[in-house]
Amino acid sequence: MDQAEQLRNIVKLQNQSQPRKVARVITVTSGKGGVGKSNMSVNLALQLRQLGKRVIIFDADFGLANVEVLFGAIPQYNLGDVIYRDKNIKEVITTGPMGIGFISGGTGIEGLGNLGKAQVQKLVSNLAELDSLADVIIVDTGAGISDSVLEFVMSGHEVILVTTPEPTSITDSYSLLKALNRSPDFSTSDIQVKVVVNRVLSVEDGNNLFGKLDVVVDRFLDLNIEYLGTVPQDDCILKAVMKQVPVSIEFPHSKSARAFAEIARNLVQEEQGEEKTAGKRGLAGLFSSFMSKRRFK
Ligand SMILES: Nc1ncnc2c1ncn2[C@@H]1O[C@H](COP(=O)(O)OP(=O)(O)OP(=O)(O)O)[C@@H](O)[C@H]1O
Ligand SMILES: [Mg+2]
Repeated sequence: MDQAEQLRNIVKLQNQSQPRKVARVITVTSGKGGVGKSNMSVNLALQLRQLGKRVIIFDADFGLANVEVLFGAIPQYNLGDVIYRDKNIKEVITTGPMGIGFISGGTGIEGLGNLGKAQVQKLVSNLAELDSLADVIIVDTGAGISDSVLEFVMSGHEVILVTTPEPTSITDSYSLLKALNRSPDFSTSDIQVKVVVNRVLSVEDGNNLFGKLDVVVDRFLDLNIEYLGTVPQDDCILKAVMKQVPVSIEFPHSKSARAFAEIARNLVQEEQGEEKTAGKRGLAGLFSSFMSKRRFK
């Protein structure tokens, strides 16, 4: 049995030992940086919470820790404390507004490629615990087509791709999709890519932009993208960021907060009667898939 298979077995065993509900994992990513992923993650979490979901945000940004800045809360621990020290996953969850939990990947993520079997086991069983604590886990990634981001995205099942109407953002989104599509690990049936167009001046702009991206993707790539919605350009977002309070809390009636609410409703609606709703391997499944890709390339 090779190591990749061992990892898969660890997760399988975990899932067999307790037949249970797993959290829906949604990975938020983009081609270009600074397009609004962290705002999307945080506000989507809050809006899903309003709809009665228990939500945990996992900050998997390899560089700056974004979520904590937007929440105005500094986590005491990060995933590294679970892997290398003896913290339990519950101890590294910081509670943000409205009871949203968040976990900082911190430096823990960089070392994932070199973990021994015992550490992997410990991590995976800790991550599996999150399934009982959350209905939805939102993974905020860093930007770019770096190998790590791409592998992370590919390990997930349900991906929100954030783009803006800027031409560079659209081409970078396409480049990300192209890189995904080209990867030998990519399987069309495994990943749902849902596009959100952020900073639009009108809903129509968003629709047109998605239409254009969809045509190119359809023509040149072997993957499907879906349209999840738009978020308008809104000064309230900047004001909220400056205050380190998410816009959905600071300006709940702003146009952007309403847009986040609608996107959350769209996501929840998909769940109805759709058992196969994405991300159904939980975060433990995503991580083991991620790690097996890292190590065994
Ligand atoms: N809909 C919007 N309207 C106005 N400004 C926005 C909007 N969305 C994002 N911004 C601005 O863009 C900035 C970057 O947003 P955010 O930090 O969410 O991007 P990101 O994709 O997470 O960036 P990074 O790639 O660095 O992690 C925000 O601080 C805000 O000023
Ligand atoms: Mg960010």
